[in-house]
Amino acid sequence: KKVSIIGVPMDLGQTRRGVDMGPSAMRYAGIIERLERLHYEIEDLGDVSIGKMEWSDDEGLRLNLRNLKAVAKTNEKLAEMVDDVVQRGRFPLVLGGDHSIAIGTLAGVAKHYQNLGVIWYDAHGDLNTAETSPSGNIHGMSLAVCLGLGHPYLTKIGGYSPKVKPENVVLIGVRSLDEGEKQLIREKGIKVYTMHEVDRLGMAAVMEETIAYLQGRTDGVHLSLDLDGLDPHDAPGVGTPVIGGLTYRESHLAMEMLAEAQLITSAEFVEVNPILDERNKTASVAVGLMGSLFGEKLV
Ligand code: ARG
Ligand code: MN
Ligand code: MN
Ligand code: MN
Repeated sequence: KKVSIIGVPMDLGQTRRGVDMGPSAMRYAGIIERLERLHYEIEDLGDVSIGKMEWSDDEGLRLNLRNLKAVAKTNEKLAEMVDDVVQRGRFPLVLGGDHSIAIGTLAGVAKHYQNLGVIWYDAHGDLNTAETSPSGNIHGMSLAVCLGLGHPYLTKIGGYSPKVKPENVVLIGVRSLDEGEKQLIREKGIKVYTMHEVDRLGMAAVMEETIAYLQGRTDGVHLSLDLDGLDPHDAPGVGTPVIGGLTYRESHLAMEMLAEAQLITSAEFVEVNPILDERNKTASVAVGLMGSLFGEKLV
C-alpha cells in the first residue's frame, strides 16, 4: 500500500494554542519510520499552510463560529490535497491539528465513494452547529458539517454537501455531549457506542459490531481519531480532556481489528497538543496506534 502523509498545523478551531504543533510531534515520534518498517511506500507531503488568525473576522464571532474564514480556507486547501492523494490511488493519512480539519479531509475523500463510512473515535460528538455550540469552536462542529449541517462556508467545501450519510457514521468512546448534539443523534438515528456500551460489551464486541455494520453498507471507511477519545491518563496532551476514556489497550485492540478487517481507506489523528503533553507521550501513543492500524501485529 502507498501512504501519503499530510500535516495540518491548525489550532483555529478551538482556543488552546499548541495543537498546531501536533504534526511535528507525530513526525518526531517516528510515524514515517514506523510505517516504512511495515514496508509501505511513504510520501510526506508536508504541512498545509494555515489561514492567518488576523483574517478571523468579527463576522465569525458574531455567528458563533470562531475564525470561520481561516478555518474554511485551510480546509479547502486540505480537501484539494486529500482529493489528489486519493485520485493517485494512495491512502491519505492526515495529522492534526484540531478536529475542525476533518471537514477538509472528508471533503477530499468522500467524493471518491458512493457510500463512505466514518468511524468517529472521540470523547465528543463534534455534532454542534453554531446554534447549539456552547463554545463557538468549530472543532466541536466538524461531524455536523460533514452531515451537511452548518455554515455554507464549511458545508460547501469541495463543492458538494453532505459528505456522509448519518446512517454510515459510528461514534466510539463518547462521554461528553451537549444538549443539541444529543438531540441530533436521536433525530438522525446515528449509531453511538458511548463509554457505557464499551464497558458493557467490551471493545472487542464493539469493534466486531462496528465492522460488520459498516462492511455491509459502505464502499470505503474513514477513521477520524481524536486522541481525547483515549483516557487522559494515556493521552494527556489534548485540549479538551474528559476522564473515564478508552484505554491504551482498548485503542490498540480497536486499531488491530480494523487492520485485520482491512476496512479503513483513509485516516486522521487529531488534537495532539504537545504543550499540554508529558514528554511527547500523546504523539507517541498516536504513532503507536497508527502502527497497529497499518498492521503492525500481523507482520
Ligand atoms: N462539545 C464541546 C464544544 O462544542 C467540545 C468539543 C470538543 N471537540 C474536540 N474535537 N475536541 O465546544
Ligand atoms: Mn474530542
Ligand atoms: Mn473531536
Ligand atoms: Mn497519569
